[in-house]
Amino acid sequence: MANEKTLILVKPDGVQRGIAGQVIARLEATGLRIAGMKLLQISDGLAAEHYGEHEGKPFYPGLVSFITSGPVVAICLDGPNAISIARKVMGSTNPAEAAPGTVRGDLAIDIGRNVIHGSANEEDAAREVALYFSDVELVDYARAIDGWIVE
Ligand code: RTP
Ligand code: MG
Repeated sequence: MANEKTLILVKPDGVQRGIAGQVIARLEATGLRIAGMKLLQISDGLAAEHYGEHEGKPFYPGLVSFITSGPVVAICLDGPNAISIARKVMGSTNPAEAAPGTVRGDLAIDIGRNVIHGSANEEDAAREVALYFSDVELVDYARAIDGWIVE
């Protein structure tokens, strides 16, 4: 199993709705380890760097104004297959198509207010973790329960 780091955001809608704790609890319950976590308000510059791949698309201006509209909780999760495990917990991009039991399936109804971001692949994850966290903000530690989570 490949050990990976992934970047999660509880988006401004999740923070404003008071469900950040629920979202974090779902991710934490998988067994993935929280390596970094903080509240911040994303600047226009950071939004442009983060979502550069979508520049020029019709939803891009709305996406940038939404993601900068209030604080987000940024989380770096670490563990085996962390990227795909977190994407599975998140559910499909469009909450209308997201499976029950997923964050977007259970807690959202609109693609433009879909509560959570998670890195899509290894390249994006490395880039995004570095965008939000400096080296000293990522803590490497062991948990007493690790042997009950990974064989
Ligand atoms: P994210 O990057 O936020 O984790 O979401 P994702 O990979 O599942 O989706 P992505 O294709 O990267 O799109 C980024 C975010 O843009 C918004 N979006 N709106 N109106 C639309 O057609 C549309 N398409 C995408 C969503 O908020 C999506 O999470
Ligand atoms: Mg994406």
